[in-house]
Amino acid sequence: LLVRGARQAVLVCRAGERALRGEEMKTLASLEQDGDNGVSLVVGSNGLIEAVGHDADIQQKYGSTKFDRVIDAAGMSILPGLIDGHTHPVWAGDRVHEFAMKLAGATYMEVHKAGGGINFTVEHTRRASEDELYTLFRDRLLRMVRAGTTLVECKSGYGLEVETEMKMLRVIQRAKRELPIEISSTFCGAHSVPRGSTMEQATDDVINVQLPRLRELMKSGDLEVDNIDVFCEKGVFDVDSTRRILQAGVETGLAINFHGDELHPMNSAELGAELKARAISHLEEISDAGIKAMADSGSVAVILPTTAYILRLTPPPARKMIDSGVVVALGSDFNPNAFCLSMPMTMHLACVNFRMSMNESLAAATINAAASLGRAETHGSLEVGKVGDLVIIDAPRWEHLIYQLAGHDHLIKYVVKKGEVI
Ligand code: NIG
Ligand code: FE
Repeated sequence: LLVRGARQAVLVCRAGERALRGEEMKTLASLEQDGDNGVSLVVGSNGLIEAVGHDADIQQKYGSTKFDRVIDAAGMSILPGLIDGHTHPVWAGDRVHEFAMKLAGATYMEVHKAGGGINFTVEHTRRASEDELYTLFRDRLLRMVRAGTTLVECKSGYGLEVETEMKMLRVIQRAKRELPIEISSTFCGAHSVPRGSTMEQATDDVINVQLPRLRELMKSGDLEVDNIDVFCEKGVFDVDSTRRILQAGVETGLAINFHGDELHPMNSAELGAELKARAISHLEEISDAGIKAMADSGSVAVILPTTAYILRLTPPPARKMIDSGVVVALGSDFNPNAFCLSMPMTMHLACVNFRMSMNESLAAATINAAASLGRAETHGSLEVGKVGDLVIIDAPRWEHLIYQLAGHDHLIKYVVKKGEVI
């Protein structure tokens, strides 16, 4: 694939950078059109970026090489494919009625304790067939692709017992095979305490029933799962249960990537740093010690502007985290509570509500989100040797993707996955 004549390519980081922190997020590497000399990018037949440079230099290098496809990007901007660091996209039923309840004043935990929330979705997801779930999931993933997402983290967690949890993970596995979007999958059997159980029973079930079955299915090659997640929250899983489950996940070969410090300060950040978590999500209620611990451990903070917005939570201290050197990433947190499939919208909210700059938001939705999934070596920037995942927008500067609120349908002309236009 040859893309040529672009007005601008935002590379995000320089060769060899594997996450951006603090000041590094403020100025992103980019290449600008020079007079008539636009920007070209070449993706090889192996799906990897082969060259990025000015048109004249690329033309000289490639001479009369025949490309499978040429995109004339005059006046357009090229960005890396967007990376969504946190989603719950496999479920049946919806919770539009709960949105009305929350608008009328109910809090997330009030709805949850009244048997709604996660447990409502669990009932519907347990009853749905694997094919039904797959169809719903596929449509959501394709909407994410149209909004520029090329790599997404996807969680289970609406089964809360072994059969449904494995059903959800099989649905994710099928999407990995069949759809043109890349997935990092997460086992989240400890997303909530199922109705009729105690936290202790649920913890035992995850450790002694669900994880052993997952280990078998991973060993036989039926499932490839990347991460382990727990909802560490007052009234859900406490710090001790969370620690035990995450450690059992590590023994199963999974990377730690969990929910913490969302509605109450729990010292989840400190726990994650202690366990060398790859990522911790939410963190609205992170403590100063937690910020320091994450800056030291390098655990990535995946912050979720849609959730804070919909639940009217006090936003996480994003500025303090960035200025203290925490690696900050973004996720849409798509789930029945926060129905957002769009990373451009997520970045917009991060700018306005979390006071991040557009450069910081893009770094958080590309290279740093890649780091949260352990894929910063291969994803998250326009760098020779990385996968050819691109978003091409019809605007002379990439910032339009954030500035034009909910404008991605109109702006995004091409989404490219491993060199193929999808
Ligand atoms: O990230 N906080 C826990 N998990 C989800 C919500 C899931 C749900 O409400 O269905 C979140 O916001
Ligand atoms: Fe979540």
